[in-house]
Amino acid sequence: MTPRIAILGAGPSGLAQLRAFESARNSGPGPMPDIVCYEKQRDWGGMWNYTWRTGLDENGEPVHASMYRYLWSNGPKECLEFADYSFEEHFGRPIPSYPPRAVLQNYVMGRVEKSDVRKYIRFNTAVRWVSYSEQTEKFTVTVMDHDRGALESSEFDHVIVATGHFSTPNVPEFDGLEQFPGRVLHAHDFRDAREFAGKRLLLVGASYSAEDIGTQCHKYGASEVTFSYRSNPLGHAWPEGFSEVPLVTGIDGNVASFQDGSTREVDAIVLCTGYQHHFPFLPDELTLRTNNRLYPREIYKGIFFLDNPRLMYLGMQDQYFTFNMFDAQAWYARDVILGRITLPDRKTQDLDVDNWRGREERLASAADEIDFQAAYIRDLVDRTDYPEFHVEKQGELFKQWKLDKKKDIMGYRNRSYASTLTGTISPPLHDDWMNILDDSFESFLENDFSTRPSTVPPAMPPTRRRTAEEVTLPRPAARPVGVKVVRQPPAPRAAAGAPRSGTRST
Ligand SMILES: Cc1cc2nc3c(=O)[nH]c(=O)nc-3n(C[C@H](O)[C@H](O)[C@H](O)COP(=O)(O)OP(=O)(O)OC[C@H]3O[C@@H](n4cnc5c(N)ncnc54)[C@H](O)[C@@H]3O)c2cc1C
Ligand SMILES: NC(=O)c1ccc[n+]([C@@H]2O[C@H](COP(=O)([O-])OP(=O)(O)OC[C@H]3O[C@@H](n4cnc5c(N)ncnc54)[C@H](OP(=O)(O)O)[C@@H]3O)[C@@H](O)[C@H]2O)c1
Repeated sequence: MTPRIAILGAGPSGLAQLRAFESARNSGPGPMPDIVCYEKQRDWGGMWNYTWRTGLDENGEPVHASMYRYLWSNGPKECLEFADYSFEEHFGRPIPSYPPRAVLQNYVMGRVEKSDVRKYIRFNTAVRWVSYSEQTEKFTVTVMDHDRGALESSEFDHVIVATGHFSTPNVPEFDGLEQFPGRVLHAHDFRDAREFAGKRLLLVGASYSAEDIGTQCHKYGASEVTFSYRSNPLGHAWPEGFSEVPLVTGIDGNVASFQDGSTREVDAIVLCTGYQHHFPFLPDELTLRTNNRLYPREIYKGIFFLDNPRLMYLGMQDQYFTFNMFDAQAWYARDVILGRITLPDRKTQDLDVDNWRGREERLASAADEIDFQAAYIRDLVDRTDYPEFHVEKQGELFKQWKLDKKKDIMGYRNRSYASTLTGTISPPLHDDWMNILDDSFESFLENDFSTRPSTVPPAMPPTRRRTAEEVTLPRPAARPVGVKVVRQPPAPRAAAGAPRSGTRST
């Protein structure tokens, strides 16, 4: 009997799973499962699809997107590069290390467009409920097909949950927020930094969203940025206009008070307080319960739900590595489903999880965390025919990125790194990142990136605050329908990108 697989979500993780099956299908004979991928948005791309919408979408479904305008990659693209598809191959030439959202999205989707997997996806179809029968050993997946306006149910042998975990906000309460006269929003609903030009912003939280939304609002003219932290401050050498204070204790009118007894007037508050793993379509006995961490309990190899390994989760970890980690997981999940890898008994799985979890709990620094996630990925890729890639070298780049950010939080995106696939050092941005206000796909790629010296640049001088008048953007050119990047022949691959002996299946 051909097994039936449901993949929930067509973001980078769900697409990695489709690619993994496609690669096995192309690499030789053998029975392949029937696959259906349910995606509630109208297109693939997951979090990378920007929308102006917040709250509910046109179908009344929660808006998935947490990405905002002017979002640039916050890590070097060399750390995200697929093992089998370099940036140079996609764009036909080297591009800078930190591309804006639309450019990175074009690369990630470019690889999947080359495959033939769109046919498996049911777009505009939201998963409503999943149940499992011990008798039949099958899942029933109930979805709402918004095109037909109808609910329907189908049976599957395996379910792969790839619905992401940076979409349902974690929203704490603080005394006095109800009476605050300005805007209060969670980072999930943040869209356009220009709204806050000339404003005094309070950002609650001390992680990537706070850091990135704060720097971006400064770039687009916010007059003051205050970060309020619960555990530890971000601790960067912030330029004039930034400050860090302990946690908010309350708000009175437009005055916020903090644990150290200090107060300040603010005009708007953005809660950058992270996200919840939220699976409203799963019954309790199938739900992964975790916070945002590198090794969630309850899933063997970070994938298989211990209480029912026919249920799999992709991409549920906190993420240094992203796209190639999802690939590593997808290839492994595929091989278990195809019977190429046999899962050990429950006791062995529990011990393995305990071992990884114990290691995670002993991690003392960001560098340790990066090594840990690289080791986790290595553990997966070494057991499948996923093309060999230098995950450890990418880890070293992440460590350099951390240092570069510490040195210059406003200028780290001006730096360049070498591809672990091609060896090419990226050209620098066409201007200092702080000066580039138009981040559209077209305006980024119209640069030839060779007008500035192609060396790894030194840290930029401290930046000054921008006034609201200075951040008026030129109207971005309308994106031509069907715009395609011009491709040149791919650059020759360095050994790092080469497949392991005869096993490559992509
Ligand atoms: C603000 C922000 C910035 C980020 N920046 C970067 C970055 O610069 N670089 C980087 O590598 N990573 C970044 N990330 C991490 C990002 O989450 C991953 O790159 C990636 O998108 C995760 O892929 P995923 O497929 O696991 O989840 P997602 O991309 O979230 O995709 C999940 C998919 O599931 C669908 N879905 C959800 N619920 C249902 C349902 N009930 N029924 C049907 N479909 C459903 C969604 O519509 C979505 O398409 C960022 C994340 C955030 C929040
Ligand atoms: N440009 C970009 O590429 C970009 C931009 C933004 C985000 N991202 C990505 O988005 C993902 C999510 O990042 P994130 O920063 O939103 O979430 P996160 O990394 O999980 O951090 C959540 C933050 O909220 C704080 N917090 C949680 N509950 C709180 C409470 N009740 N009161 C006060 N503070 C509280 C946490 O503090 P504690 O430390 O005390 O727990 C932590 O600082 C990351 O993968 C990141 O890389 C990328």
